[in-house]
Amino acid sequence: MKILVINGPNINMLGIREPDVYGRETYQDLLALIYKTAEENGLDVECFQSNHEGAIVDKIQEAYGIFDAIIINPAAYTHTSIAILDALKAVSLPAVEVHISDVDSREDFRQISYAGMACEKRIAGQGIDGYRQALLYLKSRL
Ligand code: DQA
Repeated sequence: MKILVINGPNINMLGIREPDVYGRETYQDLLALIYKTAEENGLDVECFQSNHEGAIVDKIQEAYGIFDAIIINPAAYTHTSIAILDALKAVSLPAVEVHISDVDSREDFRQISYAGMACEKRIAGQGIDGYRQALLYLKSRL
């Protein structure tokens, strides 16, 4: 089973950016957790991070016919990007939305998730462990 993990803007700054909100683990720690979980569960995982909306749209489109599922944390684009929503709908792959922080208890402008409208599951407020949970969910679901 091939799973594409997509992270949006500023997720590469984990460990540096607002550690009280996002924790002290780095993006490298996140990648290590994802690849370890994948190896333990026989999953084939690719990770992609970009600060650019169009690059994320391109990557989702490229997943069509290659990957079986997508895990996506669109970061700030969660709350703004209809293009990412449309790309997820276009490829129609099973998708899980992950947020490191508990977005539901944060600012009003974080309360809408466009990408989430094309995702079958949402995991938020679990720190980087949310990605591990998303991988296990997709393993059991597929
Ligand atoms: C985030 C939450 C978003 O509101 C924010 O813009 C991010 C990260 C999270 O993982 O908690 O950059 O997606």
